[in-house]
Amino acid sequence: MGKFSKIEPSYISRDGCRLVWEEIDEDDSDVVVLNKEELDSLTEILAKNSTGKVELEDQFSTILINTDIIQFRLKDSKMLEAKTNAMTKAILEFKNVPHVPKPIKIYPKEFLPSIQIDKEDSDKEQLEAVLKAKTKSGISETDLFKILSARRSTRNFDSSKTIEQWQVDKILAAADTAPTAGNFQGFEVFYVKNKEVKRRLVEAANNQPYVNAPVVLVFCMDPARVKMNFRPEILAKFSLQDATLAAAYSQLAASALGLSSIWIGMINETKVKQILQTELRPSSILGIGYPQKNRPPKSRRNLKDLVRVIE
Ligand SMILES: Cc1cc2nc3c(=O)[nH]c(=O)nc-3n(C[C@H](O)[C@H](O)[C@H](O)COP(=O)(O)O)c2cc1C
Repeated sequence: MGKFSKIEPSYISRDGCRLVWEEIDEDDSDVVVLNKEELDSLTEILAKNSTGKVELEDQFSTILINTDIIQFRLKDSKMLEAKTNAMTKAILEFKNVPHVPKPIKIYPKEFLPSIQIDKEDSDKEQLEAVLKAKTKSGISETDLFKILSARRSTRNFDSSKTIEQWQVDKILAAADTAPTAGNFQGFEVFYVKNKEVKRRLVEAANNQPYVNAPVVLVFCMDPARVKMNFRPEILAKFSLQDATLAAAYSQLAASALGLSSIWIGMINETKVKQILQTELRPSSILGIGYPQKNRPPKSRRNLKDLVRVIE
């Protein structure tokens, strides 16, 4: 079945529209023309993130709006389908209606690494066990300088390769080893597995599609953890630095495991907070996965241009 591609004005239906589906053969397309009333009814349902049915003028054809898929059951044609989120976006933009996504309820759970030690052992020992665990490929002791010299961000992930739990464990454990102001660890990490939440994070990051990566970590600042007697601005700065460093450690750990990542700083903080249902300010999102292509690192300034020596 072809993919819904666009909505445009229809010259045969004033104030209505043409919905176009591209077929596999690029020259072919299926088209549904809606009159103004039909388009208005569809828009009303989509704007409310609701489900429902719109009956068309011919008194036979119907549009069934479900949460994931919209089905067009048409009189003289095969059934056409479109993803609800894609069509909602297209139609609301066409009608110039701002879209307020329905809030989704999320229930964050405690993270349990795949390597567990005895309950009586300390948190420190638990962290060490994860960090030191020998991996199947034995790559856990990769030279740091080799990792630094080879790291390259990626925005094209190979989603056919599975990331194993122990890899995520190590990436998160690396974040936990980062230095933090006063060792108060003024940050928190959201490990986002939920597909719908990932999709929404794309929207909250200026529609950067690669935010929807195989592994998605959102690093947030938690200044309330920084129990130091300083002004709130200082605590905010410390927690931003804590969260940033933790993300950088995770990024390096991902590289050490043969993975690649993309650091996302271009985020709408308010939207990310709403999506994660948290009061904590996000500092960055790390999208992690196997790169489709292994590319050499980007060039940098020469050290002589980077460093000023004060003797
Ligand atoms: C603070 C910060 C913000 C960034 N924000 C984004 C972003 O929003 N989107 C993106 O595609 N890349 C973003 N990047 C990734 C950089 O573009 C990338 O790291 C840089 O081009 C250097 O490439 P390299 O990581 O391969 O060395 C960001 C990186 C940093 C450190």
